[in-house]
Amino acid sequence: MIKKDFPVEDVRRFLEPTPTVLVTSAYKDKQNIMTMGWYTVMEFVPSLIGCMITGSNYSFGLITKSRECVINIPSSDLAKKVVAVGNCSGADTDKFTSIGFTAEPASIVKAPLLKECFASFECKIHDSKLINAYNFFIFEVVRAHVASRPKFPETIAYRGDSQFVLSGKNIRIHSDK
Ligand SMILES: Cc1cc2nc3c(=O)[nH]c(=O)nc-3n(C[C@H](O)[C@H](O)[C@H](O)COP(=O)(O)O)c2cc1C
Repeated sequence: MIKKDFPVEDVRRFLEPTPTVLVTSAYKDKQNIMTMGWYTVMEFVPSLIGCMITGSNYSFGLITKSRECVINIPSSDLAKKVVAVGNCSGADTDKFTSIGFTAEPASIVKAPLLKECFASFECKIHDSKLINAYNFFIFEVVRAHVASRPKFPETIAYRGDSQFVLSGKNIRIHSDK
């Protein structure tokens, strides 16, 4: 294949099929929601997820102080709300009421589950070594809540520039070897 030079800052467009998620956080009497596309699975046992959360986000302060969050996965029908959550700040907006998400109590952490999302993972900071250098959080999922149907809900993945990919058909592939 003939390939052309490509801007390094845009390579994420080819690497990001991960569902865009909503991260909820809480500290003292404040709670918040932010949209997150940049994260990666790091280990299965313990269940570790690495995430980039910009330092200027209101969520950054709530999460670093509480050392907890919930990663909620919305299906594609919530796409407009997901974008709205990612385009305003909890510093001056109550996104639960203004955008329309319902907070439900979690089992272990103080951050709420989002009722409208089909999966919610309660997380605690597992390792904070990379936060100062890269705003990179390593969370352990300590409890997971997942709706039983549909088995593979349609999700959205962010490619930048307001472009999203809809998740597609599920196929099972076995190696011939
Ligand atoms: C689709 C989408 C994906 C985003 N992904 C991330 C992300 O992975 N990390 C991040 O720090 N900000 C991300 N953002 C930006 C934050 O969601 C945005 O700055 C938000 O307003 C922060 O809210 P807060 O200030 O209430 O915490 C994303 C925004 C959108 C729309």
